Amino acid sequence: MPKTMNVLFLAAEASPFVKIGGLADVAGSLPRALRSLPAESVDGVNLDVRVAIPLHAVIRAEATALRSVTSYSLPRSDGDVDVQVFEARSEDLPVYFIGGGPVNASGSVYSSRPELDGEKYTFFSLAALELTKQLGWQPDVIHANDWHAALAVYALLLKRWDGDFAGTASVLTVHNLPFAGPDVTGNLAAYGLPLAQTDLPDWAHTLPLPLGLWAADGIGTVSPTYAQEMLTPEYGVGLEMFLRQRADTLTGILNGIDMDTYNPETDEALTVNFTAETLAARARNKAALQGYLGLEEDPDIPLLGIVSRMEPQKGVDLALKALRKIRDEPWQAVILGTGDRKLELAARRLQAQMPERVRAEIRFDGQLARQVYGGADIFLMPSRYEPCGLSQMIAMRYGCVPVVHATGGLKDTVKPDETGFLFEKATPAALAKAIRQALTVYPDRDRWQALQRNGMAQDFSWTRSAKQYVALYQSLLSKLTS
Ligand code: GLC
Repeated sequence: MPKTMNVLFLAAEASPFVKIGGLADVAGSLPRALRSLPAESVDGVNLDVRVAIPLHAVIRAEATALRSVTSYSLPRSDGDVDVQVFEARSEDLPVYFIGGGPVNASGSVYSSRPELDGEKYTFFSLAALELTKQLGWQPDVIHANDWHAALAVYALLLKRWDGDFAGTASVLTVHNLPFAGPDVTGNLAAYGLPLAQTDLPDWAHTLPLPLGLWAADGIGTVSPTYAQEMLTPEYGVGLEMFLRQRADTLTGILNGIDMDTYNPETDEALTVNFTAETLAARARNKAALQGYLGLEEDPDIPLLGIVSRMEPQKGVDLALKALRKIRDEPWQAVILGTGDRKLELAARRLQAQMPERVRAEIRFDGQLARQVYGGADIFLMPSRYEPCGLSQMIAMRYGCVPVVHATGGLKDTVKPDETGFLFEKATPAALAKAIRQALTVYPDRDRWQALQRNGMAQDFSWTRSAKQYVALYQSLLSKLTS
């Protein structure tokens, strides 16, 4: 077992440089948590973890703090493609930014044109693997995330067959199984990589995520429950039979949250900071939030909050319908987020119909999000599927009691009647019933505060997850060398 373990962590996005969704939080936090594990807590191993992400246009625009590291080229059938690599430090974590024509060709992190993304992320994945050679830094583990980096795992296996990267193990973590990526047959061929004979279903054997899953030494996902769900027809998106064949290499490790950035005791976005001991002060955040939103400033009306990307996955439509079903109850609601136009419109329509109690704030607003966590009473998260979910953990840390669909990471982080409320079926009726349950408990201050305090006492730190990842890396490495 090496005394230093080199891990290259690959993702399309990483906080604080570029963030679209929860993947960025993970890529921003987990590598740092791994680096800061004391060696004595993980069998004397020192982790040299480094991150690589594409040099997206949004990063290029403010690239002044980036240091040029190296440039090289990748052979491609229609002419070599230049790769430029830059580096920045996020605290002491080295983050590499991989730039080149295919990255520049798409103006956004994820474009709406599959052919641009197919080439961009094939290039990124292959260039990242080659970067380790250019740096003379031999990775023990390639830890790729989602389809955007999956081809690094695929290419690694083909290279291992050729005797290269012999000691390098691979992990592919799934954050979103339905996003398999576009057909990359042509892209792979152009970079000289064949399509392997696989046991994947026909429709999947040309797509990056399935190819990566096929090639990975270990398949990861971000909660134990989702790891089980992936093996079922309901959640497996047609890959369940394939995944079942590999169930022994599948591990679900719960994400953490950044306990320093998300801390109600110090969060500057809040009107009043508070802890579990000074919970009464939280009422002032609720009043401020009601005031800001132009809702009646009444401490006794339960305030429901949603902070979410507006996507079918997140079940915002279920919440809108459920709220209609419980209009006989006293409540107010704030819905914050952007995304799918239809869902945005539906949220606005609910506000138009119930202007005295509903606010649809259709934008990305990190500050308001924190004020919702720190001021609202109940947090709704009715996701149809949720590999992990971060907002419910942040909500609990801020004393906002979650009502969640009993799926994936939601089920693994929210404890019924102890820290929140769960419902089994993703339907408006089931959600409405769970909200009613919460509304019934709400007036009982002691019981409600117990729910809040239990939530605030949960350990959602990354350190716990990081230790599990080291154990996973070690077991994969020992299999590779045995
Ligand atoms: C994706 C998943 C979400 C998870 C996040 C980070 O966004 O949908 O459940 O929390 O990735 O792993």
